[in-house]
Amino acid sequence: MNSTTAASLDEASAGAGGLVQRFPLNFVWGVATSAYQIEGAAREDGRGESIWDEFCRRPGAIRDGSSGDRACDHYHRLEVDLDLMASIGIRAYRFSISWPRVQPQGRGAWNEAGFAFYDRLIEGLRRRGIAAHMTLYHWDLPQALQAQGGWVNRDTVHAFVDYASEVARRLGSRAASIATHNEPWVIASLGHEAGIFAPGVKSRRSAMQVAHHLLVSHGLALQAIRAAGCGTPLGIVLNQSPIQAANDAATSIAKARLEDGLTIRWYMDPLLLGHYPADVLAHLGDDAPRIESGDMPLIRQPLDFLGINYYTRCIVSGDEHPATKPRWPVTDMGWEVFPGGLSELLLRLNAEYSLPPVYITENGAAFKDEVIDDHIADIDRTAYLRSHIASLADAFEAGVNVRGYFVWSLLDNFEWADGYSKRFGIVHVDYATQRRIIKDSAFWYRDFLRGK
Ligand code: FCB
Repeated sequence: MNSTTAASLDEASAGAGGLVQRFPLNFVWGVATSAYQIEGAAREDGRGESIWDEFCRRPGAIRDGSSGDRACDHYHRLEVDLDLMASIGIRAYRFSISWPRVQPQGRGAWNEAGFAFYDRLIEGLRRRGIAAHMTLYHWDLPQALQAQGGWVNRDTVHAFVDYASEVARRLGSRAASIATHNEPWVIASLGHEAGIFAPGVKSRRSAMQVAHHLLVSHGLALQAIRAAGCGTPLGIVLNQSPIQAANDAATSIAKARLEDGLTIRWYMDPLLLGHYPADVLAHLGDDAPRIESGDMPLIRQPLDFLGINYYTRCIVSGDEHPATKPRWPVTDMGWEVFPGGLSELLLRLNAEYSLPPVYITENGAAFKDEVIDDHIADIDRTAYLRSHIASLADAFEAGVNVRGYFVWSLLDNFEWADGYSKRFGIVHVDYATQRRIIKDSAFWYRDFLRGK
């Protein structure tokens, strides 16, 4: 263990201290999950197939050959999981709606049994005094829409708007917030350029078209939901890492700027400024998306909030130069633990854009947990959470309008292409028995929320 880790461990074990007092009383503290990663019940009660069901069947697509078929079996253990949240003192829960569960073909008929599940979820949250923060799209597109081109096909935009409107009509007034998309960059780039996430397409041109369609669908959905009179705060969730050059070489600096453009500005600029970044458009050349007239103002709808998922920073270097930046310890994902990046990112965004209220909609860490006598002393995860919340406090005190924070994740769950090999939960799941064990990080979060 190096000295940095040791220092943060000491801090973590020293308890939550006065950290929570650095935030206002109405600050939203929660935990987050997503439908495909926890629900299971993939073929029950009329749920349709999603692109992740299909992707998981491809040999080699998922590291451990698994799928979300059963996952945390949350669909059947809803009450247990809600009780768990209540026992940790959680007052806000970010979850996603599975589109194929409520509209199996992605168009046409609604599945009442699917809606009944989300009714039970929202009612269960209400009874326990937990606010429902709903995400409409966390990557599980109905496979029937993929068969017609998925997000590359502009028709999917309209299918999404119909779906979003119906979910908002039925559930919206009982939700504390509604986010359209979770991490459009991941959907576009990992799903359609790298091809390591569903639907496994490998084409930059497709990826950029998908990114554009996701943004257009977000804008149209916001318009439609507002026009229907839903007064619930509406927004979108972006993943963002500060991109830093590994050294002072001009090629490294240029590469970092381009990467910043592709991952941060490509989404922030259209949403908040109404145009794509010129340097990225020029770089893309023929791979730039087809943009119809009226698209750009459509994307720039007023946002009631912006969700940011923060995990790590990203260091890039021009090929011919070795990286010289010092590295911090890494999590089980190989992601550097870099809490200062969170406040750095927020201060930079706050300086460059006129930001709506910001929520950190995901932050957390995978570590290899050891279960000893039904006890998990996940000191690294606790240190991670504590140091990132302290960094968030720095940003808040420096004037960033941040209103909430959600730990990723309530439960260990299906971590996409990594299957069940990575554990992000503050609650441990034994997948063989579906038994849950509350980890020390969750006890720490409970004490933190109580202000101890
Ligand atoms: C984010 C995803 C979330 C989870 C975490 C670790 O990119 O939104 O579903 O997989 O990473």
